[in-house]
Formats: sequence, structure tokens, C-alpha cells
Amino acid sequence: MALHHKSPYKGWVGWLDTRLPVVYAIDKAVGPRHPTPRNLNYWWNFGSLAGLCLVIQIVSGLFLSMHYTAQIDLAFSSVEHIMRDVSYGWLLRYMHAVGASMFFIVVFIHIFRGLYYGSYKSPREVLWWMGVIILLLMMATAFMGYVLPWGQMSFWGATVITNLFSAFPLVGESIVNWLWGGFSVDNPTLNRFYSLHFVMPFIMIGVIFLHILALNAFGSNNPKGIDVKGPADTIPFHPYYTVKDFFGFGIFFIVFAGFLFFAPNYLGHADNYIPANPLVTPTHIVPEWYFLPFYAILRAVTFNIPLYLIGLPVLLGGLWALKAKKIGLKLGTIAIVVGGFITIAGFGGGQIDSKLGGVLGMFGSILVLFALPWLDTSPVRSANYRPIYKWLFWVFAIDTVILGYAGSQPADWGILMSFCAGEVQCADKALHALVAIEVPASWANSFIDITISLIATGYYFLHFFIVFPLLGKIEKTLPLPTSIGVSVLKDKGAHA
Ligand code: HEM
Repeated sequence: MALHHKSPYKGWVGWLDTRLPVVYAIDKAVGPRHPTPRNLNYWWNFGSLAGLCLVIQIVSGLFLSMHYTAQIDLAFSSVEHIMRDVSYGWLLRYMHAVGASMFFIVVFIHIFRGLYYGSYKSPREVLWWMGVIILLLMMATAFMGYVLPWGQMSFWGATVITNLFSAFPLVGESIVNWLWGGFSVDNPTLNRFYSLHFVMPFIMIGVIFLHILALNAFGSNNPKGIDVKGPADTIPFHPYYTVKDFFGFGIFFIVFAGFLFFAPNYLGHADNYIPANPLVTPTHIVPEWYFLPFYAILRAVTFNIPLYLIGLPVLLGGLWALKAKKIGLKLGTIAIVVGGFITIAGFGGGQIDSKLGGVLGMFGSILVLFALPWLDTSPVRSANYRPIYKWLFWVFAIDTVILGYAGSQPADWGILMSFCAGEVQCADKALHALVAIEVPASWANSFIDITISLIATGYYFLHFFIVFPLLGKIEKTLPLPTSIGVSVLKDKGAHA
């Protein structure tokens, strides 16, 4: 067998491809040589759309960087200079700011598509992991990018979020000073955030490459959630899905242009048009909309958590799993010893203080995604064949929207105000009504808001740790079609 790659193409393309098999690689990834399930619906457009968003961010960001100054006395005005003086600077800046929001909308839909159709399940666990890493990188990049215009929200958002690390015992304060490069958010912080914000998208490209590599190992999942069994189940990626992806790009550009040209600041916060002032704290510090659910989880923990609440489940879970022979003796013993130790510390008064609890909850809400392929015990991938999960998926989706809403509200007063459509008098009345039934005033202010955040946070974790593992065991799933080809023909009313 020849060691070198013999290109299947003719002429100069073949000549080049034999020496640099890049045409073949593209063909195998997105060309006629890539067999793809024939039943992918429009939810499968969002992967390519996410790629498009990244390109938009990198190109617009590169041009912005030619005019931006990462120095605290000049950053704000350099952004205003871009908006007013640079030719089409306003377009570049709005493309980048609105583009960030569009990127998150697209990626959130991409993730929820994965949750609905069970795309994270074997054998696509590593593909899913790469996705979660991309999500973390995206969040870090967006967070640092928001600091760059050096407005009030930039400064105070950076202060609040970096300060979170101080919640970790012993090393917390040192970590925060190290992140800041000083004793407050200041010029060194802005400099390093700019460097990191510039480089991270390129790291993302590397992880996306692995994401696609892992995707190509087993090919795409599909709405039926069953494996490809033969050529009748597939069609070539090109031209069928290239044309479908380009159609998606068209729709995407219409929505993007809608925000870009008619409501470029709709998703942003007005306070970021006030230059950063370390001496004036904004009344309500809120992050960008895409962080709101996580922000709500952070704020939901307003109480110290006794350690036995964590130790006991580990201890009992370990005992059960060992008895039911779900895990080996070694792992079981570790779980029992560690769980027992934490439980004893808990009964001895040990607790996680509320701030650390919130921080752990917030990071945990994303990190739990890594474990999802094992938490979900159902053998069936697609929610279309899981009658109960199909509904609970939507409960979870609504739960995240509620979290987002709770995160957007000021920690006090907020929900009352929104129930009353912003009418101060009405909110005041509601507040008095709560006080009248002997809810302390300070409580009443934040009572409903915090309660909603807490319930929604509770459900978020319940969904992962209880619903996914249990439902997989008890749910009666519907019979799966024998093959994609057969089911497609059946859906179309033809005879297979
Ligand atoms: C910059 C961000 C991302 C890009 C460019 C990207 C790109 C892609 C592309 C092109 C596909 C194939 C088309 C499709 O199935 O939609 C794909 C599939 C997939 N992605 Fe992503 N992705 C990103 C982020 C994520 C994230 C954050 C997750 C999950 C946490 C994720 C999970 C998946 C999964 C599970 C699949 C397989 C879907 C299936 O075959 O059913 N991706 N991705």
C-alpha cells in the first residue's frame, strides 16, 4: 500500500491535493464525501451559525483593535472616537457588541438542541465536553470584552465578578489581587483583559477544531436519535446541507441586521455609556443578559449551607451504589469515607458560607454539564421518543428563563416593581401588604425575588441530579424506528 495520499481529484486540484490534502479534508468534513443523516432539521443549522458568529466577532474585533486604546484614561473616549470619527466605526462596534449577543443566542439554542435530542450521549460525550469548554471560553471572552469600554457597568461588573474569587478560603484574597494585578480593578486589569480578550477566540478556534473532529468520528446525531445503519439513511453534506446552512445564514443576517440597524443598544445597559467611576457605585449592577441565569444562581444562596447537606448524600449514595454493585469497592470506600468526614464536620457546625455557596452554585451550574452524559441514564437519545422527558425538557427551559428574569431584577424590590409594571405606588402597597402580614420590611423587599431565584436554582440542579438519573430508569419510552431511511419515508406517507 502506498504511504502517501493519492488524491481522488483530477487536474491541478488533484496535483495540489496529493501534496497538500486540504481539498480532501474539506470534502470529507463538509463536502460530497461526507455522508450525513438525511433527516436533520433546522435545529442542526445552529452549529454552522455559531461558526459564522465567531468569524464575525474576530473580523469586527480585529478592526476595532486598530482604534481602541487599552488605557483607563483613554479607553472610554477611544470607543467614542470609534463611534463618531472612524469611518463606519459605529458599524464595526455595533456589529461586535450585537454580534456577541447573537453568538450567545445561537449557542444557547445549539446547546438546547443537544439537550432535546440527547446529542451528548454515547458515543458523543467528548464532542459535548469540547462544547462545554467552548462555552466556558466564550463566557470568559465576553466578560473581559465588556470591561474594555471602561463604562460604569464595565468597571463594576469586573469588580463584582473578580471579587467572587475572594469567597474561596485561604487563597481567595491572593487570587483576586493576582487577577487584578493590584489592589483594585485598575489599569493593569484593563491591559490583561484586553490581551486575553484578543487571544481567547483563537484558542476557541483550536477547541472548535477538536469539536468538529469529534463530530466527524461518529457523524451527527439526528432528530430520531438512532444510529445511521446504511447508505439509505444518509445524503451527501454538499450540496444538501451546504445549501441549507447558507439559507440559515440568510435568515440569521436578517435578524442580526434588525438589531444592528434598528435597536443596537436594546440588549445592552445604558449605564455603560457613563465613564467608569470607582467612587460611584451604580444602584443596580447587572451583567449582560446572557449571564443573568448564572447571576441569579449566584445570588440565590443567601444562607450558609451546613456541610452535612453535602456529606450525607455522598455517604448514602456511596453506600447504596456499593450495595447495588454500581461501583467498585475502592470507589465506594472513598465515597463513604469522604461523605462521612464531611457529614461529621457538618454536625460539628461546619458550613459553606453563603457567598462561597453562591459562587460554587454558579460555576457548578455549568460544570455539571460535563457529567450530563452519565447523569442521564436513558438508553433513548431523542426526546421525541421520551414522553415524559419531552415535557420536562420544557420545564427546564422555562426554569432557565425564570432564572434569567430573576437575575435581571435588583436584589430587592425588583419583583414587586415588575408585578406592578413599574408603578412605584403599587409596589409600595404590595410591600405594605407583606409587612402587614408580619413579613419584616427588609425581608419583604427581597422576599419574592430571592424565593423565585432559590426555587428556580433548586429546580436547575434537581433536573440534573434527580430528574436525569431517575427518569432514565422509570420512563416508558416509545418504540424507535428501525432506521432513519424507513422513518423518513413513513413520515412522508410513502411506503418503504
Ligand atoms: C463557538 C461555538 C460552537 C461552534 C462553532 C460549534 C460548532 C458545531 C458544528 C458546526 C456542529 C455540527 C452542526 C450541528 O450539529 O449543529 C456542532 C455539533 C454539536 N455541538 Fe457545537 N459548536 C459550538 C458550541 C457548542 C457548545 C457550547 C456545545 C455544548 C455545550 C456544543 C455541542 C454540540 C453537540 C453535542 C453537537 C452534535 C450535535 C448532533 O450531532 O446532534 N457545541 N457544533
